[in-house]
Amino acid sequence: MADEPVFVAVVGFGYWGPNLVRNFARNPRARVTWICDLDPGRRRAAERDFPQARASASVDDMLRDAQVELVVIATPISTHFDLARRALEAGKHVLVEKPLTAEVAQAEALVDLARRVDRRLFVDHTYLFTPEVRYLRDLVARGDLGQLLYFDGVRINLGLFQTDHDVVWDLAPHDLSILLALAGRPPRSVVCVGSSHTASGLTDVAMLHLDFGDQLTANVHVNWLSPVKVRHVIVAGTRRMVLYNDLEATEKVRLYDRGIEVTDADAQRRAAVGYRLGDVLIPHIPAREALAVEVEEVVACLRDGATPTSPGELGVEVVRVLEALGRSLERRGERIDLD
Ligand SMILES: NC(=O)c1ccc[n+]([C@@H]2O[C@H](COP(=O)([O-])OP(=O)(O)OC[C@H]3O[C@@H](n4cnc5c(N)ncnc54)[C@H](O)[C@@H]3O)[C@@H](O)[C@H]2O)c1
Repeated sequence: MADEPVFVAVVGFGYWGPNLVRNFARNPRARVTWICDLDPGRRRAAERDFPQARASASVDDMLRDAQVELVVIATPISTHFDLARRALEAGKHVLVEKPLTAEVAQAEALVDLARRVDRRLFVDHTYLFTPEVRYLRDLVARGDLGQLLYFDGVRINLGLFQTDHDVVWDLAPHDLSILLALAGRPPRSVVCVGSSHTASGLTDVAMLHLDFGDQLTANVHVNWLSPVKVRHVIVAGTRRMVLYNDLEATEKVRLYDRGIEVTDADAQRRAAVGYRLGDVLIPHIPAREALAVEVEEVVACLRDGATPTSPGELGVEVVRVLEALGRSLERRGERIDLD
């Protein structure tokens, strides 16, 4: 069993699906045998680029193939729940694109179903598999940053305007998955404000604020209407601070030995602040494509009993925060408690 390849079907061969197919096809322990897409043009592209797989419009035909063990879903968010449910009911393991579903109740239902049918449910929170985020997780886990103070994320560009979800559901899952992994706990409350500049009414510029308690807050700016692309994350701790710039070709992470020390407070309650201006370290982090790491891990979970970095349960947590952010957005920035 451990030597047998995992037979994989990918549903959705639009923008992101081909990246998943390419990485599963390259993994020596996996074989992509089906690519399903409703669009004939995309099926022709799949036949051309991956002739070893069968291109089909019928998810039902694919689900009837007993050899298929893992179904990978890379279709629009509104379709995730139904496709994942059908795949689990057909006895397949499932890897779903972020965000897991469009509603938290659906995400919870999928986790329950996976448990009942004894299948694995994974969510593609791709950033958790980048070497840089893995490095950040290790730094935080070792206590090298000290107590976490804030997270500042900027994820903006002239983005593809989606039709079935807004910029928060499109881009924020990346920051939320990173944040939940670093904080190790969900936020206590969230605030979201934003605006729409198209007839669809879907928010295309948004600011998120999340409060994790114990002094840790996060601010994230997501935007489809920016002239420049920025992918910045700052994580500040009491001991050190990190800048992660995902757009750098190399040297994406800089570790700053900087911060403040509140030395005293005088009678007028003016805090006396001392500045620490130490060295900047650029760690050598070997580059690897995140999806290749993720595919390797998914196969190891199915064959070797490895523990997933991004299971369905994490997908539920991300969707829970997205839903709360959506509620805050509707109520023009009202604080929403998650307890
Ligand atoms: N992890 C990442 O970094 C990342 C990046 C981009 C997109 N995504 C996610 O990937 C998913 C797809 O996004 P995209 O940008 O590739 O969308 P897309 O619209 O480019 O592609 C979706 C494809 O799915 C097909 N499709 C739709 N419904 C289908 C169905 N019921 N059965 C079979 N095929 C169907 C469409 O014909 C289309 O080709 C979304 O969940 C998105 O959030 C993730």
